[in-house]
Amino acid sequence: MTPKHNLADIFKDFHPRIIGSRIEVIDQVDSTNELAKQYVRQNCAEGLVILADSQTQGKGRAGRSWTSIPGVGIYFSTVIIPQENKELLPQFTLMAGVASILAIQDFCQAETTLKWPNDILSAEGKKLCGILCETCPTTSDGIAVVVGIGINVNQVTFPEEIQASATSLKILNNGASVDRNALICSLMRHIDAEYMAMNLPGGVEKLIEKWSSHSNLFGKEITFKVGNTSIEGRALGLNEAGNLVIATQDGKQTAYSAGEITSIRRATPAH
Ligand code: BTN
Repeated sequence: MTPKHNLADIFKDFHPRIIGSRIEVIDQVDSTNELAKQYVRQNCAEGLVILADSQTQGKGRAGRSWTSIPGVGIYFSTVIIPQENKELLPQFTLMAGVASILAIQDFCQAETTLKWPNDILSAEGKKLCGILCETCPTTSDGIAVVVGIGINVNQVTFPEEIQASATSLKILNNGASVDRNALICSLMRHIDAEYMAMNLPGGVEKLIEKWSSHSNLFGKEITFKVGNTSIEGRALGLNEAGNLVIATQDGKQTAYSAGEITSIRRATPAH
């Protein structure tokens, strides 16, 4: 167990702009995303951050759960309330991915990479961070985006079912613990900066370029699952909406807004 989240420590060296304008620290919650959505329904301001030391029902994508061991991970949610550009909502997931990988790289001695739509993996393909963005109606007929981020920080073991597929910063740093409060400050700073940048003219194109520069997916052969269908193809890149473009053997290129990459293999000569 590493030091608990501590607001005095966090604010010592953090001056919020939007993200982190209010921070709620709790010992245990079912899910920080669920609590953040409750606050949205109560008209909370943009930038609210919920930080929990553990979650009893941490949620992952596609109905999965997120293992939330007390005292060692980051279980973080923040509320974003876009004023316009509602069509940009899916791109918040990419924004959160870029901000998270930049924050992680401030504290990680090993290579990390983004896997679409938003996992952060070690070079060995083990999962270090997961992101779950959810929308929630605001009291004024707008839409809030709850950005939920789980980072494996100081875990040295994981439950049996994810032991082979998960890693942590401590494992990647050869046993050196990471200060969770410092990592949270970095995460809030990077979300703030990326959120502002994506709202500038040309910001979404730049976000997609940045996301792509932190991924080693493109040009690789992948297996991709959409619902019950499995697709074999080559990951070509992201389109302007942030959808994943896959080329199949028949020469067809299709953009997917949802789905799961289940395997990534070496690049082979072009189809
Ligand atoms: C995934 O990889 O499937 C997404 C995992 C997201 C986990 C985080 S932990 C903080 C926030 N609260 C939740 O219940 N889930 C997200």
